[in-house]
Amino acid sequence: MTPVEAKKRIQKLTDEINYHNELYYQKNKTEISDREFDLLLEELIQLEGQFPELRLPDSPTQRVGGTISKEFETVTHRYPMLSLGNTYSEEELRDFDGRVAKGLEDESYEYFCELKFDGVSISLIYEDGLLTRGVTRGDGVRGDDVTHNVRTIRSIPLRVKGKQVPSQFEVRGEVFLPKKEFERLNKEREDIGEETYANARNTASGTLKMQDSSIVAQRRLDCFAYYLLGEDLGVETHEAAIHKIESWGFQVSPTYKKCKTIDEVLRYIEHWESRRQDLPLETDGVVIKVNNLDQQERLGFTAKSPRWAIAYKYKAQSVSTRLNGITYQVGRTGAVTPVAELEPVFLAGTTVKRASLHNANEIARLDLRIGDYVFVEKGGEIIPKVTGVDMAKRSPSLKPLKYITKCPECGTGLVRREGEAAHYCPNERGCPPQIKGRIEHFIQRKAMDIDSLGEMTIKQLYDLGLLKTPADLYDLRKEDILQLEGFKETSTKNLLQGITESTKTPFEAVLFAVGIRYVGKTVAEKLARHFKTMDHLMSASKEELLQAPEVGEIIAQSVYDWCRDPENKREIQRLKKAGLQFESTYKEAEKVSDVLGGKSFVVSGTFQHYEREEIKDVIVAHGGKVLSGVSGKLDYLVAGENMGPAKREKAEKLGIKIISEDEFREMLKG
Ligand code: IVH
Repeated sequence: MTPVEAKKRIQKLTDEINYHNELYYQKNKTEISDREFDLLLEELIQLEGQFPELRLPDSPTQRVGGTISKEFETVTHRYPMLSLGNTYSEEELRDFDGRVAKGLEDESYEYFCELKFDGVSISLIYEDGLLTRGVTRGDGVRGDDVTHNVRTIRSIPLRVKGKQVPSQFEVRGEVFLPKKEFERLNKEREDIGEETYANARNTASGTLKMQDSSIVAQRRLDCFAYYLLGEDLGVETHEAAIHKIESWGFQVSPTYKKCKTIDEVLRYIEHWESRRQDLPLETDGVVIKVNNLDQQERLGFTAKSPRWAIAYKYKAQSVSTRLNGITYQVGRTGAVTPVAELEPVFLAGTTVKRASLHNANEIARLDLRIGDYVFVEKGGEIIPKVTGVDMAKRSPSLKPLKYITKCPECGTGLVRREGEAAHYCPNERGCPPQIKGRIEHFIQRKAMDIDSLGEMTIKQLYDLGLLKTPADLYDLRKEDILQLEGFKETSTKNLLQGITESTKTPFEAVLFAVGIRYVGKTVAEKLARHFKTMDHLMSASKEELLQAPEVGEIIAQSVYDWCRDPENKREIQRLKKAGLQFESTYKEAEKVSDVLGGKSFVVSGTFQHYEREEIKDVIVAHGGKVLSGVSGKLDYLVAGENMGPAKREKAEKLGIKIISEDEFREMLKG
């Protein structure tokens, strides 16, 4: 493809992708399948890889991430990011109102109320309509430049819509992980044996500071905008500013309200007290702002916070109820989770009967005893938490709780792995929930996608002794299924057909499906593409495993051990015989030329025209090879800005040619 053709195609793909994105995110509609959408995006990524200079600054490919940031640059905020004063009672709020009235010398004023979103604040800088920087709050004066990660958040416009947009402005908002995403993420982590995250806020904050923006993209962070800053913005009220940023394409929570009096503010607070539980994110209060910007300016700031705004914090909703007992759940990976069985009690709109207790440490920390009256709180999470014991109500006869030492499902002695809080049942192959859990993992949509098989059917087949490992699925016969409750001719045929169809599932998904600890969907994909076949993976040494992208010590060890287990080897043989795919059909980016044919490169530092991973793709696309370290075999070291001195020294010592980015670009011309 010539550059002219590429430019045309890139524009066409960009328009098409933007159209479908908008349809999906703004109008909740789709016109093409996920697969078709992915194909468009993949084509654009490849084209941009081949012609980096043609990449548009607001290209939708930035939403998928791919940049690795070793360190984030520290940036000084143009306007310091202050915090808000907190109030906890009507009285304190009326005091605030009194101060505002006094400050404005009894001029009339209005308030603008918003919910206080419990996430991570972000400062977004736009120049000539384009997002140029996303910076965390940091210490309020300086924050971290997390632009690459911010670009993956779809509710943050890369380019603002509309005419007459100021050439420079800043929008602030709250980045958050929606409750549903948080639960999905934790389920996924539980599924591959990783410890779960404690709460959505910290997870959002940790995600925003991850080094690999492609992982950030998968986390589906979201953002509500609530503040516009800049010079000559042409608005007189906060309300107008909010409407303006909304029209520019920012997402604003529709929960705001203009209030004329403090009594109206109090009604707003009361209105949202329980309703906020139904919102997609966690909120911990209400922010009350003086609406008129001129009045805001006159009220000004104290050293820490504005005098024109305040936060009202909701009290955590908590009740006391009796702890009737503790039950223990065993998951697919053998992890044991204790659950508090409570005397049913009404809390924030629902009846609570159970609450999660996380692990043995948590029970010890709370010093829980059966029969205690415990405080139960509903935070943002859907499952309530036990936060403490009402000691005044404790009867002296209650005995300290002993954590179970044996698996409640199979009686095997529990173990605790070094550095982990959870207890595990080590009886992987004989413990019923672990056996059934492995099959449920295997058939799930993201894995083999056998949707004609559900949890109940798996249980029945397991109880009949017909299903112990995924490979048994492919030995099932019609007679086996017909004896199951609820199965007739058609449903049996569908189930068998679903199983047969699943043999076509690509190797990437099969590798995820077999359930190796710590091997989630992404890692499975990388491993499959790196090793190409299951045989190569099974025989890989630990060093070879460590060479694969995304694989560190822990994953390498887990995969290595799994591949050496005789039972796993047998299972893979059986699955192979059943016709499953154990070879990746993924094709590397198409070759553009062979001008770098046979030459090897190491890239170091940062570049003007390429992201670091991108320059590697360009080398491969032009027939070159990318090596990870400087050695005698190397042909060229491409030196970017801030290249490590050690690499340069080594290359100089070995007499390896060091070239600049411009020289590299010259080479591409052949
Ligand atoms: S306005 C000058 N509005 O609360 C202060 N902040 O304690 C401007 N927050 O750092 C902030 N929801 O992260 C504002 N609707 C909202 C908010 C909000 C949450 C956070 C924000 C800020 C902190 C202040």
